[in-house]
Amino acid sequence: MTTKSAARPAKAAAESTGSVRYQSGFASEFATEALAGALPVGQNSPQRCPYGLYAEQLSGTAFTAPRHANRRSWLYRIRPAVHHRPFRRIEDGRLTSDFDQVATPPNQLRWDPLPIPAQPTDFVQGLVTMAGNGSPYTQSGAGIHVYVANRSMTDRAFYDADGELLIVPQQGRLRFATELGLIEAEPQEIVVIPRGVRFRVELLDSAARGYVCENLGSPFRLPDLGVIGSNGLANSRDFQTPVAWFEDRNGEYELIAKFMGHLWSAAMDHSPLDVVAWHGNCAPYKYDLRRFNVIGSISYDHPDPSIFLVLQSVSDTAGVDSIDFVIFPPRVLAMQHTFRPPWFHRNIASEFMGLVHGTYDAKAQGFAPGGASLHNCMSGHGPDAETFEKASGAETSKPDYIHDTMAFMFETRHVIRPTKFALESPQLQSEYFRCWQGLQSNFDPGRP
Ligand SMILES: [Fe+2]
Repeated sequence: MTTKSAARPAKAAAESTGSVRYQSGFASEFATEALAGALPVGQNSPQRCPYGLYAEQLSGTAFTAPRHANRRSWLYRIRPAVHHRPFRRIEDGRLTSDFDQVATPPNQLRWDPLPIPAQPTDFVQGLVTMAGNGSPYTQSGAGIHVYVANRSMTDRAFYDADGELLIVPQQGRLRFATELGLIEAEPQEIVVIPRGVRFRVELLDSAARGYVCENLGSPFRLPDLGVIGSNGLANSRDFQTPVAWFEDRNGEYELIAKFMGHLWSAAMDHSPLDVVAWHGNCAPYKYDLRRFNVIGSISYDHPDPSIFLVLQSVSDTAGVDSIDFVIFPPRVLAMQHTFRPPWFHRNIASEFMGLVHGTYDAKAQGFAPGGASLHNCMSGHGPDAETFEKASGAETSKPDYIHDTMAFMFETRHVIRPTKFALESPQLQSEYFRCWQGLQSNFDPGRP
């Protein structure tokens, strides 16, 4: 399955185990053990745990969060998470939580894909912050990153205390060895790692690129469905959480933390991926975006893009999300006498878009897989001139079949502020504005 090239760096790609197993359901109350009898029965913190394990609680929400929103898991592990040497600051590389580096322009922005690095670079080293808002300190907002990597992490693990990580692979399959189990993911799947969970990323192909939404606020949840009913959009059963897995490895190990916007490193004498059993609903998961049940108009016009909502991070204001993760998957457009592509618009929300696969239907050119665009609060945008022209004259008595596409949006309540790197990057398309300059005035007062 893995393509091997003589030119790739040593240890670039691991082998897929092919036997990774998952449990079904979104934030279900899971119970899983890699050794039979490792989970205590009837209590969380017995005086002595089976197999001499330590019990440790991982809280993803406030203890007193309402039951439906409460996330926590109990881990039974070889050594508790506290067992490491003191953290020391290390270079942040191109990763940051400082979103006040430069004045945020109201311009429509678009980037070509970042290149795969020439030097050996693992997932953490390859994280590049493109934009964001809010702050780890106030636990609100989002960091928006791209990763580019060509080698697996070995003998080191990472955790993000600042936020939950929603990872959107665009190129190359990945294996996540996490405290709570193994996840393998390919492009068009997403992986979500809860705040604080330690993990290592191994490449299953020679190179990897993708997007990361670092959710600094409340954990992602499935949206309510209202009048849609009890099924549809992303269905709970399609979310997959790993079964317990552990490694009992002694020897030099590095633990990297992202804490308050900076990277810290601590030496360990064992792998932190030593959880033999766990139960609870605070756990990593993956979801195949191709399983999204797309709902749309079957008469005329089309709904707001919130109909494509996969996951939301709710804010303190009802109905106003901190982050919406929205996708634009393959679908059928059946609306009659309707301009079928996304309409021209200006929104109070801000939109960072990426393309995993294929072509996005509102932009025939210039938006490449692995690229990105940013349309901020009240900045006008919409289809390019060519798409407008084509869609305005299209036959709408028959459906359009949109194949081979998977675009997504990190849509946020607060303005998304590009980093200095993003605004100075050679990948920034300075000519992006031109795609709308061909929109002519078609106004004719004599032709109603
Ligand atoms: Fe938009």
